[in-house]
Amino acid sequence: MGLHLLGEPSHPSLLDLPWSTPLEDWPPSQLIGLPRGISRHVVRFVRVDDTVMAIKEIGEWAAKREYEVLRALARAGVPAVHPVGIVNGRQAADGTRLETALVTQHLEFSLPYRALFSQTLRPTTATRLIDALAVLLVRLHLAGFWWGDCSLSNTLFRRDAGSFSAYLVDGETTEQHPSLTDGQRAHDLQQGRTSIIGELMDLQAGELLDSELDPIATGDTMLARYTELWAALTGRQTVTVGERYKVDSRIRTLNDLGFDVAELEVIRDHDGVHVQVQPKVVDAGHHARRAMRLLGLDVEENQARRLLNDLDSFRAATNRQQDSEDLVAADWMAQVFRPVMKKIPRELRGRLEPAEVFHEVLEHRWFLSEAAGRDIGLLPATHSYVEQVLRHKPEERSVLAPLDAL
Ligand SMILES: Nc1ncnc2c1ncn2[C@@H]1O[C@H](COP(=O)(O)OP(=O)(O)OP(=O)(O)O)[C@@H](O)[C@H]1O
Ligand SMILES: [Mg+2]
Repeated sequence: MGLHLLGEPSHPSLLDLPWSTPLEDWPPSQLIGLPRGISRHVVRFVRVDDTVMAIKEIGEWAAKREYEVLRALARAGVPAVHPVGIVNGRQAADGTRLETALVTQHLEFSLPYRALFSQTLRPTTATRLIDALAVLLVRLHLAGFWWGDCSLSNTLFRRDAGSFSAYLVDGETTEQHPSLTDGQRAHDLQQGRTSIIGELMDLQAGELLDSELDPIATGDTMLARYTELWAALTGRQTVTVGERYKVDSRIRTLNDLGFDVAELEVIRDHDGVHVQVQPKVVDAGHHARRAMRLLGLDVEENQARRLLNDLDSFRAATNRQQDSEDLVAADWMAQVFRPVMKKIPRELRGRLEPAEVFHEVLEHRWFLSEAAGRDIGLLPATHSYVEQVLRHKPEERSVLAPLDAL
């Protein structure tokens, strides 16, 4: 049998890559040098048409499994790298059989944790990474996925309005179940904690860890954050009949945490006085969905929150509480968001995602206004941000954005 590609129909030119050469020996001219986490398998980045792909050589069985898992994660809306296909039937010129390759799309603007700091990993950054990882693990578990290999190296991070959001990158061991048992969840958690501690100790040995940062305490933080969030999302709550507001305020709290409650189970106790309430289906992305609906922007959760807050203050400042939300949102895009984006010079657009730039411009404006003791306009603040901050940042996108997307 010849070369065999199973995958999305959108990338036929994948077959033109030098599949008869082991990935390790692909010509440098073909490769893209992007930061990568530590891994056992050979992983390389290449450009196919306008997309950057990550290619991993892995056994055939494992490749098929991981491909299916990544597809299932995408269907379930869990943040993970996007699977493109698997290539097998590879053969060298001398007839030697070559390893199957799994192809995924390079996740734009994502970074492995080791690329997120230049000198040492500081406690505040570590806490943000750990928080993001805990949210990812909760989301996986809610959707019935057992990771089996939770670690910082198997996660990609994207900036999210000063915090991070986490994506699963390595799904080789992942299993999908109708729902997870407490034991399965505990296994993932313990394993994640141990991996994090080991990864931080490695950084420590290489003098890449801030001396204030305690690897074990940081591992424990992940466990604590996960447990807290899991309890908030799934815990059973007993209220007295007539205390409906308590249920409403719980739903509001979950919204603030970034989750929507799609299904709620309510059981009335035999005493007729108490009601037990438990969220059954919760969906992440409360603010992100609203940002998509109102602004048409596909952004991370905290970025969405930031944009929507600004939209709300625009609405208040322009005294348009009576107008339809859609109308105000369209005006905000035209009068606030787009003018800021237009001020970003083309050559700097690959440095940070637009929503992250917007977030940083707002922060920058706040600092300038504080220093000046008066309000600094958005456009002068954008100009100052571009020259003083953005110009000095490294490029974090893999390929330049199509400019009409802005
Ligand atoms: N689609 C992608 N987008 C961005 N980076 C990627 C992608 N796929 C892989 N990588 C990078 O390559 C690294 C190694 O990938 P991966 O963890 O899947 O390899 P592995 O050999 O299976 O790892 P392990 O040793 O944990 O089994 C990741 O940490 C990540 O930095
Ligand atoms: Mg890995």
